[in-house]
Amino acid sequence: MEKRIAVLAGDGIGPEVVKQAIKVLNAVAHRFDHTFTYDIALVGAVAIDETGDPLPDETIEACRLADAVLFGAIGDPKYDNDPNAKVRPEQGLLKLRKSLGLFANIRPVELFDSLISRSPLKEDRIAGTDLVVYRELTGGIYFGDKGRSKDRKSAYDHCNYNTEEILRIAKMAFEAAGRRKKKLTLVDKANVLETSRLWRETIQDLAKHYPDIEVEYLFVDNAAMQVIQRPNQFDVILTENMFGDIISDETSVITGSIGLLPSASVGEQTSLFEPIHGSYPQAAGKDIANPVATILSAAMLLDSLEMFKEAEEIRSVVRKVIEKGLVTPDLNPDSHVSCSKVGDVISLLIESDISDETSFENLFEGSLPLI
Ligand code: IPM
Ligand code: MG
Repeated sequence: MEKRIAVLAGDGIGPEVVKQAIKVLNAVAHRFDHTFTYDIALVGAVAIDETGDPLPDETIEACRLADAVLFGAIGDPKYDNDPNAKVRPEQGLLKLRKSLGLFANIRPVELFDSLISRSPLKEDRIAGTDLVVYRELTGGIYFGDKGRSKDRKSAYDHCNYNTEEILRIAKMAFEAAGRRKKKLTLVDKANVLETSRLWRETIQDLAKHYPDIEVEYLFVDNAAMQVIQRPNQFDVILTENMFGDIISDETSVITGSIGLLPSASVGEQTSLFEPIHGSYPQAAGKDIANPVATILSAAMLLDSLEMFKEAEEIRSVVRKVIEKGLVTPDLNPDSHVSCSKVGDVISLLIESDISDETSFENLFEGSLPLI
């Protein structure tokens, strides 16, 4: 198959981790006889530096024309500490989500058995965790009216939702639950917020059409506690934009590193795939970042192109490489394995079409001198 992928590496470690994912995609293309063409486009602080705009029109156009978008990370500390900055890198990502109608952000949290001891949580609490967060991505407080009073001494951010916005992601989440463990947890703050009451009411009605799905309702403060206390009790977590932003960072801790978690943003146009971590500016250019979240995002990208066996091949090689202890320092402080080495070994193993355990062992050992 021939596919066109828009590549928006962005800021900080974005370019380094995206480079590894592209190596892996090229290995997939080689092994499975596909052609991927990459359309490189600017977003975030690098785009502001070059064009003054965190999301130039050409970037939106490149995404619209592509079969999928691979995204790295955005954010730069020089904007974080300047509350008066008129343009910010994050505006690029938010505008892109809105422009492509990416209303559902899907963030799976799966454990790697060999990394259980790396989690800050106790093993017996986290064993068996396999959940996915469905975060609404183009509504709520992120996109409501915001502003300041004339004297600039008061500020507001409005939170709006309508039933249509809730229903379109909720249906996806119910369907996902149907394919999984048949449980859906709505996270809201319905004891306080009117938007949350609309979410709850809408989900209660919709649940009638999915009688085989168990539906649980949790207030967000309680949910923040429960995902740490009993993460393995969750299946699909459905929530609005800001609660989803917070809860999904929290759930990432369960696995041992936020550097492991991929995501897909889907909706009306081209889908976008990105690691859930940020631009980690302290690590930029050092070749120490964990590329696995981006590589697994590339696997989700292939799923969206219906290249299921190719996606599974990436996941299976990633799993094996992690089991072998080939991990970046975020997962093992004594490790000297670099970001690019992880990318090299994973792509080599994919390209080599390993069908049995012995050849895997041989090739893996053989690839170590490359490290
Ligand atoms: C995320 C990020 C973004 C968000 C930022 C960079 C705007 O934290 O994708 O989770 O808040 O949505
Ligand atoms: Mg976030």
